[in-house]
Amino acid sequence: MKEESIVDKLLKDLQKEKIEKDYSILRLKFNPFPFAGLPRFILPPLDPEILRKIGHFISSTWKKEEYSGLTIVGDYGMGKTHLMKYIQAIINELTLKAREHKIDFSAVTCFIDRPENTPQRVIHKIIEDIELDNIRKYIWKIVIDNIMAKKDRFHDQYKSKQSLLLQPKEKWGELFEEPIKSNYLEFLERFRKKGGDIKKLQEDVRNIIKKEIVSDSALADRYLNLILFTEEKEADISWDILAGYVTKRDVQNKEIIFLNSIVKILRSVGFKHLYVFVDEFEDIGKLSAAKKTNYLLTLTTLINREARWSVVISLPRSVLEEEIKKEPPLYDRLTSTKISLRPLDEKKGKELLIKYLNLAREKENESVNPFAEDCIKEMIKTSEGNYRSFLLLAYNSIEVAFEEHKSKIDTEIIEKARELRGI
Ligand SMILES: Nc1ncnc2c1ncn2[C@@H]1O[C@H](COP(=O)(O)OP(=O)(O)OP(=O)(O)O)[C@@H](O)[C@H]1O
Ligand SMILES: [Mg+2]
Repeated sequence: MKEESIVDKLLKDLQKEKIEKDYSILRLKFNPFPFAGLPRFILPPLDPEILRKIGHFISSTWKKEEYSGLTIVGDYGMGKTHLMKYIQAIINELTLKAREHKIDFSAVTCFIDRPENTPQRVIHKIIEDIELDNIRKYIWKIVIDNIMAKKDRFHDQYKSKQSLLLQPKEKWGELFEEPIKSNYLEFLERFRKKGGDIKKLQEDVRNIIKKEIVSDSALADRYLNLILFTEEKEADISWDILAGYVTKRDVQNKEIIFLNSIVKILRSVGFKHLYVFVDEFEDIGKLSAAKKTNYLLTLTTLINREARWSVVISLPRSVLEEEIKKEPPLYDRLTSTKISLRPLDEKKGKELLIKYLNLAREKENESVNPFAEDCIKEMIKTSEGNYRSFLLLAYNSIEVAFEEHKSKIDTEIIEKARELRGI
């Protein structure tokens, strides 16, 4: 008989994967360990001290309304991204729950995978995360609230002098009713149809933006363009409208004005704090010396001027100590809270196993079943306490046991799982 080719074998295997695997022999509903990347369910940190620091960081940035930086240091695979996502989820949940309970906490979070090569790119990412369309809505909210305050005089002020199409005053009332009021496209269209003076409106909106958002005329104009003239334009074209503001001259100052105005927009619609997460901050080491200096300087200035945003960064200890420490003001600000992620020891490794296993159990319990107790020591040794290696080993062990129809995972299976990865 002809031997099965590797493609045939893989095909069979892929077909098998499609059918939901039944891990009941291991008393699990599924293999709970992350194979690559982050798991769907972000578990909390194992160390209570870390939880305490996170709590302190969030409440101090909030209560004191002042800038605070949190730096997460840890080597490759030690859980930096995981912890950042966890903190982000906490802040988002807090915002939701506080709203339900009418407690004064409302923050926006942005997650940036790497620092990008200029602060302007960082701003772009922030806007992308908040979504440009939301920014437009927020600007409109500020504008319409201002207009509403003087709505009795609205018709007299804005009725066009020449328009033959001018509608009578009674018909203008609908502009201030929902859903028209909150939808700037709809509002503007109807305003035009009623014979409103668009030039005058534009002028006044510009003044409102200058008063409420940013006094810099050039940037105010760009925000104005964003709501008044870009009907259904592509998001990136709109970004170009904003980005054009930051030109080569005076880059740093403009970036700062820009970000401050974003924070102001968020604040005026009720979000009081902006938390920006920058993962893999070590990448700034790849920038040219001039770019890096500009980057770090801009960041320092931003941090010094804008109290209503906080930065959470993650990087390996060596970069923090060798690169960032050379900029003492920035170093101090970024590390107002510092969390160091340490390798797993046997106790923590056991805790981590139990937490993941419980995700896949009918009923939670405190045992490491189907792992035998003496596996943990072996797994810590093999992985050197590195979260990613440890969890991958756990994942593979479950798979090996499953393939071999074993109901218990012993050190022999761990050994096979290790070989699977070639470590
Ligand atoms: N507290 C935790 N609870 C459960 N799983 C965790 C925890 N911390 C980290 N992990 C898991 O460990 C693995 C590695 O973590 P992560 O990717 O966050 O590391 P990292 O430090 O960002 O690595 P890199 O330097 O390569 O970016 C991920 O699968 C993550 O979900
Ligand atoms: Mg990471």
